[in-house]
Amino acid sequence: MKMEMPTLLSLVLLPLLLCSTLSSANMIEDLQLARPNFPSVHAEKMIRELNLSPKEDVNVIEGRDSVAGPRIVERRFRFPNLAETAVSEEDLGHHAGYYKIANSHDARMFYFFFESRKSKNDPIVIWLTGGPGCSSELAMFYENGPFTIADNMSLLWNEYGWDQASNLLYVDQPTGTGFSYSSDRRDIRHNEDGVSNDLYDFLQAFFEEHPQLQGNDFYITGESYAGHYIPAFAARVHRGNKAKEGIHINLKGFAIGNGLTDPAIQYKAYTDYALDMGLLKKSDYNRINKVIPVCEMAIKLCGTDGTVSCMASYFVCNAIFNGIMALNGGTNYYDIRKKCEGSLCYDFSNLEKFLNQKSVRDALGVAADLDFVSCSSTVYQAMLIDWMRNLEVGIPALLEDGIKLLVYAGEYDLICNWLGNSRWVHAMEWSGQKDFVASLEMPFTVDGSEAGALKSYGSLAFLKVHDAGHMVPMDQPKAALEMLKRWTQGTLSGPIADLETLAADM
Ligand SMILES: *[C@@H]1O[C@H](CO)[C@@H](O)[C@H](O)[C@H]1NC(C)=O
Repeated sequence: MKMEMPTLLSLVLLPLLLCSTLSSANMIEDLQLARPNFPSVHAEKMIRELNLSPKEDVNVIEGRDSVAGPRIVERRFRFPNLAETAVSEEDLGHHAGYYKIANSHDARMFYFFFESRKSKNDPIVIWLTGGPGCSSELAMFYENGPFTIADNMSLLWNEYGWDQASNLLYVDQPTGTGFSYSSDRRDIRHNEDGVSNDLYDFLQAFFEEHPQLQGNDFYITGESYAGHYIPAFAARVHRGNKAKEGIHINLKGFAIGNGLTDPAIQYKAYTDYALDMGLLKKSDYNRINKVIPVCEMAIKLCGTDGTVSCMASYFVCNAIFNGIMALNGGTNYYDIRKKCEGSLCYDFSNLEKFLNQKSVRDALGVAADLDFVSCSSTVYQAMLIDWMRNLEVGIPALLEDGIKLLVYAGEYDLICNWLGNSRWVHAMEWSGQKDFVASLEMPFTVDGSEAGALKSYGSLAFLKVHDAGHMVPMDQPKAALEMLKRWTQGTLSGPIADLETLAADM
């Protein structure tokens, strides 16, 4: 992959550059060639900035003997480092498991399942971290899981864990990420078909394992690159339900946090957001904006299933983002209020330290020869063809069938900023579009103060979260839990907004 890149780059970029105006072409050279723009460099930079250093780049152990067995192996466990000793394993209701992926050569998907601290009847919520190629345990320990990791490696209960309001699932995916692994390189996924089929097959096995949960409401959630995974996964579940393919999954909604879903709209929004937030002067704004027409053309060629054109648009369009960052060295692009110290934007290193302890891996049933791959640059690069594809297109059909969508975004994130997300949500064509666009923005109030601004109509809601960057549940844990509760309980928009919706319907 790495070796092919320069050839591929010149092959796909040259014709594109020749079609575009000379000034745009120069523009791209200015912005892009000045900075390394290879995906491997991007992925490695991303991993370094989170202070992660996985020992292996991907969990593919070639030659490892595959063991026959049931398609799901799940165990109740208790983290050895849990500070409180009074709670029994049974009472905790914490499970870790491996699912043998159906349509794979030899892939196993690792997952955590935390029963709700409140009620078994709470909805089931699955969380997907992005990257692509980062483990969902990043969110589990730093955003919305039951515990946080103290520096001395003991676990502390998170008062605002989403298991306060749901039965909560975290999966390591695509294959090769986290504790998920294969003995066969061909199991690495390259697109949303691969990703969503694996997740759907996992759910089938999970609900077979837990028949008493089959009637619970089910919600898909996640962040960042999961703005691609989530709509594809929701559509896959809905399709399976309609075709009576397997166990009916009670899909009620899907939520995307600071996601990448509609690249054409979102890449175009970068400079507008950066100008609004004082990251760009007007002259730089005008200069970088010259790339936009080429970028838009490239994304249009990519569409929903392009291949080479999608790779080309990744290189062309990222010149916009890189152009902004070149003028804002040291700014944390997940939270523009913050600076990255050295190469460090966040310090998530305790995650690797914690999960690689022998006592922890033994408790989880992870094999001795597997390391925890926090983020995989191999998986990241393997998904490159998928990056610029438009995942908005499958959403209207879900909304029409009454499946709820919540798009939320912390207001200080640049990389998947609220402006780009708000724009695609408003631009989306569905039967409720006019009413959604016309609906009033309402304060999202938590403990009497405004924690965000909400727009909603029918099954669609958009929430701009105040005082938060890319990782909303990390920055605003209480507001994020409230958001989840109200959204799953159908009270997000509150009684006043519901009346308005009613009035608009009449
Ligand atoms: C570890 O750190 C946590 C939080 O700082 C503290 O509550 C706990 O007592 C410490 N545990 C040990 C064994 O030192």
